[in-house]
Amino acid sequence: MPTPAIPTVDLSPFFTAGDDESGRKKCKDMIAEACSDYGFFQIVNHGVPLDLMNQAMELSKTFFNYKDELKRECSSSPDSPLPAGYNKQPDHSPDKNEYLLMFPPESPFNVLPTNPPDFRKILEEMFKYFVKTGEILEAIINECLGLPPNFLKEYNNDRSWDFMVTLRYPPATETENNGITEHEDGNLITIVLQEDIGGLEVCKDGEWIPVIPSKGTLVVNLSDVIQVLSNKKFKSATHRVVRPKGGHRHSYVFFYNLQGDKWVEPLPNFCSAIGVRPKYKGFYYKDYQALRMRNKTHPPSTPEEIIRIGHYEIL
Ligand code: OGA
Ligand code: NI
Repeated sequence: MPTPAIPTVDLSPFFTAGDDESGRKKCKDMIAEACSDYGFFQIVNHGVPLDLMNQAMELSKTFFNYKDELKRECSSSPDSPLPAGYNKQPDHSPDKNEYLLMFPPESPFNVLPTNPPDFRKILEEMFKYFVKTGEILEAIINECLGLPPNFLKEYNNDRSWDFMVTLRYPPATETENNGITEHEDGNLITIVLQEDIGGLEVCKDGEWIPVIPSKGTLVVNLSDVIQVLSNKKFKSATHRVVRPKGGHRHSYVFFYNLQGDKWVEPLPNFCSAIGVRPKYKGFYYKDYQALRMRNKTHPPSTPEEIIRIGHYEIL
């Protein structure tokens, strides 16, 4: 059977002046279908300039090529409340990658590199563009779910928990190729820029589908908060990174997130109002984040013990 392709949606109707209603409707229909099937799609004409993305990728390669001591100068102190800056997965982790994590440009927690020159500026620009694209996607998903106008925008009105990770994965060896073990993201919407070498895969009906990179294209996956709010109408995509052979792999991942004090539970539109039972218990987002963080700092001995959104599922 041929591998089903991940749909690519052209977002230009949302950027052009005037009312291209039919163009917008087409986008929304494609996105709604992809989100209820498996929560994964790609976007073009998404507002992030191609030049900026190319520059960001080149600067990331230069940065990760530096010696470890130099990269570690850009790490947050061990007692920092948030793990900003440079880090490498510990040797015992099944995930093999190193990364640079940043919060919104104005965040006091950021530890940003001073070299290569321009890297910091470009990271901050990428962040700002990703926020804008995240806001547009959120508005589209709001409509796809049939929620009252601006519902998600008003609910998710604090951008301080958004974060962006710039990653480098070493090439696969003869015996292993895991970059990131299969998982779902905990936030609302994730936007990924992956390098031409590929490696990102999404699970659909039990089958792993490679997301083929294409110039200027960004990958979008829905994450746990949307799955809970929509009572599983829209899916949090299960995905992983398989390291290609032959070279390092680079990516930028933007997590459009929710502020920790927000309460997350299935919205009445998707349960009580239609006579369907809620599939999840409600929770404060920061509690779920803390459990996910614990997975990383105190990895359980078996993969089944890793806390995922199923932790809140009402069986
Ligand atoms: C993640 C992730 C994908 C990538 O960081 O959660 O899925 O391409 N990353 O690096
Ligand atoms: Ni992910």
